[in-house]
Amino acid sequence: MSALPADPAPALSALLREGTRADHTAAETEPFVEHLMSGALDRSAYADLAAQQLVVYQALEEVGAAMRDDARGGPLVFDELTRVPAIERDLAFLYGEDWRDRIRILPAAREYAARIRETAPSVPHYAAHAYTRYLGDLSGGQIVRRMMERHYGLDGAGLAFYAFPEIPRAKVFKDAYRERLDALLLDEAEAAAALAEARRAFRLNRAVFAALGQAHRP
Ligand code: HEM
Repeated sequence: MSALPADPAPALSALLREGTRADHTAAETEPFVEHLMSGALDRSAYADLAAQQLVVYQALEEVGAAMRDDARGGPLVFDELTRVPAIERDLAFLYGEDWRDRIRILPAAREYAARIRETAPSVPHYAAHAYTRYLGDLSGGQIVRRMMERHYGLDGAGLAFYAFPEIPRAKVFKDAYRERLDALLLDEAEAAAALAEARRAFRLNRAVFAALGQAHRP
């Protein structure tokens, strides 16, 4: 009697999506996020969020740059996703030209950035961090942009972070990105590590929101 074939391992993109669904709901419903999105805060809360994102993306894009020539991880690195220059432009608009002296980075954001660096050069870990941020920016980020325009009088300037001029159709790009994730062909242990790290990335995001929530109340 021949052995039954093992169930095929789920594609990484599906594993990440299903496995982080509850974390996503939790992040989306963090009080700071809800308050910011409903217009209950002010522009300084948005500016503070942008400042925290700077250190997170500096870490993510530093690790990504080092992975660019990696046979396995390289295909996950896309120039058109690069966010640090856009964040710097936003900060110059929001804080003024002396923004580097004026922003304040919260310990939770430093911890998040440190975790991204600490897991380099692991491809499953980079995949988890890049997935969590970039696919989020291309999805909910677009809703965030509209709400910031509506509630805080921003129009393009200050919102460069959410604009991907080289990605005209987010859905097409996200599908291609998911194919790259799936093409990594992670083994079972690596896939489990990637999911655990993506869940951790969501928790690190929530910790930043919680700290921002202490600083900005309706
Ligand atoms: C204002 C808060 C948020 C809103 C309104 C929001 C909304 C959404 C929506 C509508 C999608 C589905 C898009 C689609 O199916 O193409 C999505 C996907 C996603 N979001 Fe969010 N989101 C928010 C916050 C976050 C945060 C804080 C993170 C993580 C840092 C995040 C990470 C993701 C990821 C990774 C996906 C892709 C899921 C997948 O297809 O695998 N989101 N978001």
